[in-house]
Amino acid sequence: MKPVIAIVGCGRVGTALAKFLSEAGYRLSGLASKSLSSAKRVADLTETGRFTEMPWEITKEADIVFLTTPDSKISDTCSSVAFNDGFKKDSVVLHCSGVLPSTILSSAKSCSTFIGSMHPMQSFALNEVNGSPFNGIIFAVEGDAQALHRAANIAVDLGANCIPINTEDKTLYHAAAVIASNYLVTLLSLAFRLIEHAGISGSDTWKVLKPLIEGTLSNIEKAGITEALTGPVARGDIETVKRHIEAIGEKSPELLDLYNTLGFYTISIAEAKGTLSEKYANILKKITKG
Ligand SMILES: NC(=O)c1ccc[n+]([C@@H]2O[C@H](COP(=O)([O-])OP(=O)(O)OC[C@H]3O[C@@H](n4cnc5c(N)ncnc54)[C@H](OP(=O)(O)O)[C@@H]3O)[C@@H](O)[C@H]2O)c1
Repeated sequence: MKPVIAIVGCGRVGTALAKFLSEAGYRLSGLASKSLSSAKRVADLTETGRFTEMPWEITKEADIVFLTTPDSKISDTCSSVAFNDGFKKDSVVLHCSGVLPSTILSSAKSCSTFIGSMHPMQSFALNEVNGSPFNGIIFAVEGDAQALHRAANIAVDLGANCIPINTEDKTLYHAAAVIASNYLVTLLSLAFRLIEHAGISGSDTWKVLKPLIEGTLSNIEKAGITEALTGPVARGDIETVKRHIEAIGEKSPELLDLYNTLGFYTISIAEAKGTLSEKYANILKKITKG
């Protein structure tokens, strides 16, 4: 029999966990959130009878409690459940923050629980979930051995895997996640803005860029980061880079610093690839330093 789960915090991650854990055969003891409407929405989605604004009403009978509030509320939420004697003895309490340690749940220890963190390396942008966002992903886990054991079973049932992470390494691990996901969005917004200046707009912007983006990701997957690099820096095409700098300076000068910084960092990748001579690398370094 699978353990019973309580979800506290019915936002994007809480919604996805509730939906796909329940589809994987876990029974939910209930849903709790700051607002009753969020808890009800996920209760309806998962056909769970119990939803509340008072988490201890649904956590007490759970074998595993997920605290999926915003990071800033996890510790206080945990304390209020512990204060109300809301954790079952020997249950496991987990949070999903990428940066915070499991020890922020230490108040739950007073109820004889095991604590851990289980960070899904995925971007949950919407409350509505169709295909499982957990399929094939990695959860980074740390905390008590009993919590890690439960986390590993949950990951497998969600079609995912776990890797252990040192508590002190979580911040850098999370910074990598932010660069790979959030700053990819930022980077593409830069490309969108420039292509719109070039007269391509609306849905055409995505239509034009999407195959390039997907082709690049596919090249990275097949050949690795270094081999996937193409373009003027990789070719040592100084004149093209100069033209870019001139045109961006005219149309979107606020983007120039970022363009130059990215270009500067790209030089070392081109050198590692072996397609850029030292002479051209030095010229490009001068140009992109402004
Ligand atoms: N989003 C991602 O891509 C992502 C990826 C990996 C890990 N995470 C982690 O997952 C966790 C949840 O993130 P999220 O993106 O799902 O956040 P979110 O969409 O903002 O959802 C958080 C939910 O918690 C509820 N809440 C706020 N304060 C509460 C309280 N005091 N008690 C109970 N519920 C409360 C909110 O309330 P109401 O709706 O009820 O107002 C909201 O629905 C965080 O630790 C985050 O770091 C997120």
